Amino acid sequence: MEYRRCGKSGLKLSAISLGLWHNFGNVDPLANCRNILLKAFDSGITHFDLANNYGQPAGSAEENFGRILKSDLHPYRDQLIISSKAGYYMWPGPYGEWGSKKYLMASLDQSLKRMGIDYVDIFYHHRPDPDTPLEETMSALDLIVRQGKALYVGISNYQTEEAAKAFAILKKLGTPCLIHQPKYSMFVRWAEKDLFPLLEKEGVGCIPFSPLAQGLLTNKYLKGIPSDSRVARKLGNGAMNEDAVTPASINQAQQLARLADERGQTLAQLALAWILKDMRITSVLVGASRPEQIADSVKCLDNYHFSKEELGRIETILR
Ligand SMILES: NC(=O)c1ccc[n+]([C@@H]2O[C@H](COP(=O)([O-])OP(=O)(O)OC[C@H]3O[C@@H](n4cnc5c(N)ncnc54)[C@H](OP(=O)(O)O)[C@@H]3O)[C@@H](O)[C@H]2O)c1
Repeated sequence: MEYRRCGKSGLKLSAISLGLWHNFGNVDPLANCRNILLKAFDSGITHFDLANNYGQPAGSAEENFGRILKSDLHPYRDQLIISSKAGYYMWPGPYGEWGSKKYLMASLDQSLKRMGIDYVDIFYHHRPDPDTPLEETMSALDLIVRQGKALYVGISNYQTEEAAKAFAILKKLGTPCLIHQPKYSMFVRWAEKDLFPLLEKEGVGCIPFSPLAQGLLTNKYLKGIPSDSRVARKLGNGAMNEDAVTPASINQAQQLARLADERGQTLAQLALAWILKDMRITSVLVGASRPEQIADSVKCLDNYHFSKEELGRIETILR
């Protein structure tokens, strides 16, 4: 495993992190959750990404992570970076989503209880709130750190301009933003233009989520929709559905898979390596439905260097 410094902070993250959005809920077999988590930790992955609403039902991913922490990983708490978030709908009434101080404080307390821990390493505001003053949301993050309930804070799904404002407020409060978590992959590239330069300038780390485009940038869908896939399982809750498996995206994935093959990589390894070639990226945040996918994905670190010709070919394919 490689460990990269997160922006200009003192914290290093594993270049691959594991997210528990899907496959870790109460609808999923606990033994498989445990096998994936242990495979990840044994592969040198130290960072596990959660949120209040992960798993089905919402909250169950944190509960199951807490179970496995208690049974297996607890002795290694000081080798783990555990993150959680709040921002999306979690409970009824006016205090169960978005960005008020009331919601964020209550939600983190619930997350800590579900996981059975005293603090998270990173706490994120999960999505921007158009109605709550940014100062209130950021001061909630600052308070959470001062109370010792999180060591660092981050933001996710913020566009460049609102991210810049959030960074400035947090800096003034004395709790600098550690990290930004945007959606980014070969198929989703909005962050390249302005966000990455901003993060570099501000010394904020970057952890792209869905770097495999939920599985589209793997060998999984090259010959149709397999029954054991995220699409076939019809998970809902923001998970990719069959509308995303278009002839155009499969055609691109097939061409990319040929290039991956020439490089001695799987398509998943190529897609992750292509992101990690940029040293402004701290870590790629992958999901997995079985331990073998972790074993496959971490091998992207064997080669994340690309020739000019390869980069040109990739741009032509993605055009
Ligand atoms: N901040 C946010 O708003 C936000 C939003 C979404 C996600 N996230 C975070 O990002 C994490 C990752 O998101 P994601 O699950 O969409 O990421 P992803 O890595 O793009 O997709 C993961 C899926 O790809 C397939 N896969 C993974 N490795 C593979 C391999 N080596 N070979 C073949 N297939 C492979 C699996 O699909 P199958 O299940 O079909 O096997 C797996 O479930 C989440 O768990 C969460 O922590 C954050």
